Amino acid sequence: MSDRLVVIGSQWGDEGKGKITDYFACRADMVVRYQGGNNAGHSVMFNGKKYSLQSIPSGIFNPDTINIMGNGMVVNPESVVLELQKLRDQGITNFQLYISDRAAMVMPWHADLDGAYEAGKGKKLIGTTKKGIGPAYCDKYSRSGLRMGDLLEPDYFAERLKDAMIIKNKELEMLGLQAYDYQKVYKRFMELAELLGPRIVDTSAIINKALREDGKKILFEGAQGMMLCIDHGTYPFVTSSTPSAASVPVGAGIAPHWIDNVLGVAKAYCTRVGEGPFPTELFDNLAHEIRERGHEYGTVTGRPRRIGWFDGVVARYTSQLAGINHWALMLFDVLSGMETVKICTHYELDGKIVDTPPSTISKLSRCKPVYVELPGWTEDISNMKTYEELPENAKNYVKKIEEITGVLVGVISVGPDRSQTILVSDYLKNF
Ligand code: GDP
Ligand code: IMO
Ligand code: MG
Repeated sequence: MSDRLVVIGSQWGDEGKGKITDYFACRADMVVRYQGGNNAGHSVMFNGKKYSLQSIPSGIFNPDTINIMGNGMVVNPESVVLELQKLRDQGITNFQLYISDRAAMVMPWHADLDGAYEAGKGKKLIGTTKKGIGPAYCDKYSRSGLRMGDLLEPDYFAERLKDAMIIKNKELEMLGLQAYDYQKVYKRFMELAELLGPRIVDTSAIINKALREDGKKILFEGAQGMMLCIDHGTYPFVTSSTPSAASVPVGAGIAPHWIDNVLGVAKAYCTRVGEGPFPTELFDNLAHEIRERGHEYGTVTGRPRRIGWFDGVVARYTSQLAGINHWALMLFDVLSGMETVKICTHYELDGKIVDTPPSTISKLSRCKPVYVELPGWTEDISNMKTYEELPENAKNYVKKIEEITGVLVGVISVGPDRSQTILVSDYLKNF
């Protein structure tokens, strides 16, 4: 029987999923992305070099690992080609990558529409990555979108493209945007089909085969984070998919019973890019200090990330929703040198204590965090290799997170490099 591990973001994205996926990918047979698209920016660092991935799974650096972009993703073929070229330019030439023939395709007009919808919202904009992710998922669910497999059948693709463009060009013109020329789009997509064609296959069949094989190790790499979930996040300030482990069966094309081990990636504090409520947000000099120490600027857009204390309410909520059974506690090194550190245990909403996030942003915006304050530590922990070496106060911080969330910390990350990782849980040691 195979070994499976789902890696998901448990806050507002950018928790360090790329680093953790790459770390385990060194021993994995397969890494599967199952939702989102090139709105993701996953960083991986080893041998002194940093790489950034958007749609391509973070197992791409291990030549023996099969990387799969699953059917639940929205795939922009133009961006995949660019990403592959960038990897090759960085010397990554030996890899295995397949793309689901059922994955929804991000078309050029999706980004235009994303920008126009945002502009139309004025001050109430979401702050999307403007990659066209929302409009691409809309077309998927309105059943007018194109899929990656369509590229493999030129006549079928031509017909579907024509149908889609009649409506899309009308919409673009209504919004005062430039319409697209059918012949030009068709020609370019046939070139992309030439470049990506051999990689476009029935990925669900590949994953299902591996699931049934003894000793195969399969990683599922989430994008975004649970608080950006279309159902359970801070709606409408969310993305357009479900980053949860619950998405894996649908987004990879496997049965739900295969999903039993979920590693929730969480920063030792919190960050958020884009708009929307963020109860533990810091606005003072401390936010600036953490941002600079943690290099908290978006991988995709370069935007400065908003900073806040670790939110135990969010962590409890997301661990229950996604079935998280271990935390990967990330960027722990960034907290060294603080006199005290805070963890939010509850919110106060209109004079009452609440222990789960309310559903509306009007209420969530009124939530005031209730904190427990712990003594900090001064030691540089970025070269520590074991849990035992950590300063007592750092260990107490870890224990407090476990106590508040009811979930054990299985991995501690003390720097961006692959080597700066402390494995705590026996299960994860054996993965
Ligand atoms: P992802 O989207 O969840 O993969 O996360 P990102 O890659 O967008 O953002 C995480 C950032 O933190 C990246 O710049 C990583 O290189 C960096 N990083 C990851 N783990 C650590 C860590 O333990 N310490 C520090 N200092 N940086 C880290
Ligand atoms: P990774 O995988 C952080 C945010 C955007 C915006 C909202 C909607 O790197 O953690 P979208 O373009 O998806 O319609 O934007 O979601 N967002 C992310 N924030 N990390 C991400 O991915 C994100 N992907 C989307 O900033 O607030
Ligand atoms: Mg990111």
